Amino acid sequence: MLTAEQNRALTEVGPDKPMGKLLRRYWIPFCGASELEKTPVKAVRLLCEDLVVYRDLDGAYGLVDRHCAHRRADLSYGFVEKCGLRCNYHGWLVNHRGDVVEIPYDDTAHPKQNLKSQAKTKAYPVKECAGLLFAYMGPSPAPELPVWAPFTWQGGFREIVRSDIPCNWFQCQENSCDPVHFEWMHDNWSQRLNDSFEYSTKHLQLAFDEVEYGHAYRRVREGQEENSPLWTIGRLALWPIGFYLGEHFEWRVPVDDENTLSLAWFYSQPPKDAKPFEQPSVPVWESPITDENGRWVTSHVINQDIVAWVGQGRIADRTKEFLAASDRGIMMMRKRYFEDMKRIEEGKDPKGVIRDPEVAKCVPLALVGRVSGAGELTMEEWKTHPFLKLRLLDHRHCYGQPKDVRAAFRQAMGFD
Ligand code: FES
Ligand SMILES: [Fe+2]
Repeated sequence: MLTAEQNRALTEVGPDKPMGKLLRRYWIPFCGASELEKTPVKAVRLLCEDLVVYRDLDGAYGLVDRHCAHRRADLSYGFVEKCGLRCNYHGWLVNHRGDVVEIPYDDTAHPKQNLKSQAKTKAYPVKECAGLLFAYMGPSPAPELPVWAPFTWQGGFREIVRSDIPCNWFQCQENSCDPVHFEWMHDNWSQRLNDSFEYSTKHLQLAFDEVEYGHAYRRVREGQEENSPLWTIGRLALWPIGFYLGEHFEWRVPVDDENTLSLAWFYSQPPKDAKPFEQPSVPVWESPITDENGRWVTSHVINQDIVAWVGQGRIADRTKEFLAASDRGIMMMRKRYFEDMKRIEEGKDPKGVIRDPEVAKCVPLALVGRVSGAGELTMEEWKTHPFLKLRLLDHRHCYGQPKDVRAAFRQAMGFD
């Protein structure tokens, strides 16, 4: 149980809030690069700030204040130029550093005044990696962007799935260190939703460890050997807003205090006898979270998680909770967030910040859950594999994979 004040400290992400300051010390994924392929300008709300991301005609990304430096017009209706984004109202042009580089009328009529040199707008650096765009919204100097090892894997199919979640990010992130919910939410509830009264294997033992880039949880369930990687390695709540599961990452990206962007990145290695595959661009798709009756979608793994998150309320009231032994990981994480908020006040780097480019260029994460070495299996073996054969028919984690993405996936795996 927390006090109301502690709950606010963990959940509020505005620029002057302790958690807002902490999260601004990291590169935050917020968008898929291919989202800007057709329309190169997109409104973004991130950490309580209204921004606009663009890709200019030179291919450079910018993330700037959504409202123009001049008289606050909406730059998500602006248009890109060779270098920068131009406001559609009076044509002011800003670049990715937030410099106003053209004020068309003043530049023409009063060139000597050089008014533009005095104007400036808010801008944050953006980096692209593995089809994702990451923003850094904190003080300079920015740390390195960690290139997690799976981002360097070659020859596979990547896809990015996004959903807008109407609740605070922190309850979503607590789910990243919550092993027992797999047994209930994903196993037993799924059985019941399919009219089966079977119960899945029980959790017998749990362990939680703080590691360099997050908090790992390990489990033993009935019938599971202690040499299983689920016990020897575990899964990782990736600091500070992620979850790493071997062949996929999930991030709970804080939009503001009451909204979260669920962003997930998936990698699938084709069967070993499929033709070599190279992906020109990483598709991004939106996974709906409600059905035609306005009920939450319950059929897919991440959709089930979302039912839990939104069910806890817009901002979960932790003054009313009652924690148990299965919540030890959550208690560890909370403690670390509080300690890191203090470290920031003391002028120190928080957990997991990487400043050495040599370290950042490929950061290994303990690997568990790579689907039985899918790339080690033949196409024939895929067709009978319990998970992989289903994967050819539908996305396993997210509801609503568009037909064209599934077709591209099947083709990449060599099946069409
Ligand atoms: S408001 Fe943008 S140029 Fe005038
Ligand atoms: Fe889950």
